[in-house]
Amino acid sequence: MSSPVRSRGDARVDQQRVKKTRLSRRSWLQMGVAMAVSVHLSAGLALAQAGALGLGRAASSLEMASWGPIVGPDGDGLPDGGATAAAGRTIYERRCLACHGATGQEGPDTALAGGHNSLATASPQKTVGSYWPVATTLWDYINRAMPFNRPGSLTSDEVYAVVAYVLYLNDLVGAHDRIDAETLPGIAMPNRDGFVSDPRPDLDRPSDP
Ligand code: HEC
Repeated sequence: MSSPVRSRGDARVDQQRVKKTRLSRRSWLQMGVAMAVSVHLSAGLALAQAGALGLGRAASSLEMASWGPIVGPDGDGLPDGGATAAAGRTIYERRCLACHGATGQEGPDTALAGGHNSLATASPQKTVGSYWPVATTLWDYINRAMPFNRPGSLTSDEVYAVVAYVLYLNDLVGAHDRIDAETLPGIAMPNRDGFVSDPRPDLDRPSDP
């Protein structure tokens, strides 16, 4: 029977609900920030572009600090620590497999492995192994955005471990290779030369209509 008088227990349940709602809102924010940051980082232009286009404003150092480590393509910003794919396997199976599949190819969500040499074919498959130009983005992205349902919940060593495992699933590292701030930037991604810079000088031509 429900009573019109709310007990302390009810209040606690309500509080928990509120906490959960807040958490998921924060998760979405983190995803948004991750996407914004990765777009900027991958373009390699970062905030300089905001000035050139007259859009937005530079992020303050306080804002940047609150986003946690920001890892650049050459690995600057990577934290201490490290791990191997062998260590990453259990974490992957517990935290990633349900959405990305045992070999990283089955899904149901985005494929993380496979698709090698498929980009120039009639059915290109964009995976970490076939498409991503640098391996360091993996650390930044996973740290910020994965697991999708609990972003930000992995320790930095756990992130190194699943980064190693995703690279291992793409045959890019051995099971016992240590992945850390020294070794991660040195991994030669198969599509590292597949991106071209597009500064769009055509848009600045005064003769354009
Ligand atoms: C609840 C489901 C879910 C879980 C669990 C999950 N992911 Fe994801 N993952 C996704 C979805 C959905 C995307 C696509 C997100 C997007 O495009 O914005 C994604 C994208 C990715 C990508 C980017 C792939 C690309 O090429 O764009 C990587 C890398 C990744 N996940 C790694 C992981 C790792 C490592 C774990 C475990 C620590 C994990 N994910 C756990 C659902 C999940």
